[in-house]
Amino acid sequence: MKPLPIQESLVKNDPAKVETSSGNLVDTFGRVHNNLRISVTDRCNLRCVYCMPEDVQFLNSKELLSFEEISAFVKIAVTKGINKVRLTGGEPLLRRDLSTLVGFLSQIKEIKDLSLTTNGMLLKSQAVALKQAGLNRITISLDTLVPERFLDLCKRDGLSQTLEGIEAGIMAGFQSIKLNTVSIKGTNDDEVVSLAKFAREKQIEIRFIEYMPIGANPWEKAKVMLAHEILDKIDKEVGALVPATNYDPNAPAMEFDYADGKGKVGIIASVSKPFCQSCNRIRITAEGKLRNCLFALEEIDLKPFLRPEINEHEISRLLETNVVSKWAGHQFNSKEFIKPLRTMHAIGG
Ligand code: 5AD
Ligand code: SF4
Repeated sequence: MKPLPIQESLVKNDPAKVETSSGNLVDTFGRVHNNLRISVTDRCNLRCVYCMPEDVQFLNSKELLSFEEISAFVKIAVTKGINKVRLTGGEPLLRRDLSTLVGFLSQIKEIKDLSLTTNGMLLKSQAVALKQAGLNRITISLDTLVPERFLDLCKRDGLSQTLEGIEAGIMAGFQSIKLNTVSIKGTNDDEVVSLAKFAREKQIEIRFIEYMPIGANPWEKAKVMLAHEILDKIDKEVGALVPATNYDPNAPAMEFDYADGKGKVGIIASVSKPFCQSCNRIRITAEGKLRNCLFALEEIDLKPFLRPEINEHEISRLLETNVVSKWAGHQFNSKEFIKPLRTMHAIGG
């Protein structure tokens, strides 16, 4: 398989080009935003080294948006064209009664897809309730199948609990269960094959995410296990791969099918082949800050317009303002890259 081309420099946006006539969230590059990621907590029961520091100050629970505030915000967002929602964290299953929020959101008829990203640690006891509340899909993070390495990478002992969570997710009968793996050279890159085999045996898709400069620890490009390196290994050692025919052009992952028809692999090549050009996502943090990019350096505080009462007009306007100011893309591959102050757990994965 040939190496993937690296996308070059990024263009600055031009507010003069904004399309104002559309009610949808269209940015200056014509990207239509229909995908909202909601962080429900910045807390986590793991401390994955590529994500967050060991020593971290979490938000006070009063600062978190309530389920009612989140639902009110989503009801406004759907009028602007949002129809896909993903709940994230920190670890979203740490938020008490998350299935109640899922229940609220699944009542919003404009939402066509309601999903969750979790580390799986608490999924065993929550999978059925989440499914019953109307959650469609779950993505579970899994970076290693070696217990001691899990401890090393995630700083907590949790592999067996995570594996039980994956099992419970599969049993609960969601529309889809996927795994997310961050593969880092010199850390867990020797597990690409075993993780891909694990997913194939379980008949679930695994997605490898290139290691990004968003965590607490210093990032080095040399440690990024690149998309083509991952694909090469799987192609040679697990099963021949062919580009998938039915894939979502807006999804960040490039999809591959095993040639024998038994399974799928996704690659999120955030570093070697950024998908910024087709990005359709906006995010809201657990305390109500609107962000137009994982790597955004600016955010808009919506809480004053959600609490003590909802200001629909202002929220609607700020959703547009936020999207209009969206840049072309992150700049990992340029000297100008500035790492956001927030680490991943406080943004929402
Ligand atoms: N690079 C790539 N992926 C990351 N994630 C967290 N931090 C990073 C990083 N630095 C992933 C997690 C999880 C998803 C929400 O984001 O592994 O699967
Ligand atoms: Fe927690 Fe996910 Fe960050 Fe790991 S990557 S510390 S599981 S939020």
